[in-house]
Amino acid sequence: MLRSLVAFCAALGCQAGAAQSSSAAAPRIECAADVCRAAVPVYIGWRVFEAQCATCHAADARGSSYAPDLTQRLRDFDQRRFFAALDNGYLGAQSSMPPRGRDPNVAPYYEELWAFLAARRDGRLPAARVEPLAVEGRAGP
Ligand code: HEC
Repeated sequence: MLRSLVAFCAALGCQAGAAQSSSAAAPRIECAADVCRAAVPVYIGWRVFEAQCATCHAADARGSSYAPDLTQRLRDFDQRRFFAALDNGYLGAQSSMPPRGRDPNVAPYYEELWAFLAARRDGRLPAARVEPLAVEGRAGP
């Protein structure tokens, strides 16, 4: 069982080792085949990202001809800088991103978006469908 999970993980390029060596606060993520089960904030971030950001940044956050690859662009970002980027938006000659600080579909979910995108950036979460891990002490979904 564990062996096949590891094999799937290798195929998807997720780094099990990275999850263990990074900070203790890193949310739990478990992947098999083309689906990952993740701590609830990561799951919510994925949902919001697919609904609000993927049209420009692509479903896997790897970017498009229009908007940058966030797994690369976020290399030097911490959470605070990420939040500021969403508050400010971006207005360029070729492309733009609307500010989201007052968008009711985005503003309440900054932390979840960060949880999702930081996991993508750090290789802890491969490009996959995400499902929520059962909350401890409660029955699964
Ligand atoms: C309408 C298309 C569009 C949508 C929707 C969009 N973005 Fe962007 N985003 C862009 C463009 C274009 C850029 C920056 C282009 C540049 O800097 O050259 C950008 C840049 C960014 C940056 C980098 C900002 C910086 O300061 O370098 C982040 C972070 C980001 N987007 C996150 C998000 C998130 C999270 C969402 C969903 C809530 C989102 N974007 C939705 C088009 C979009």
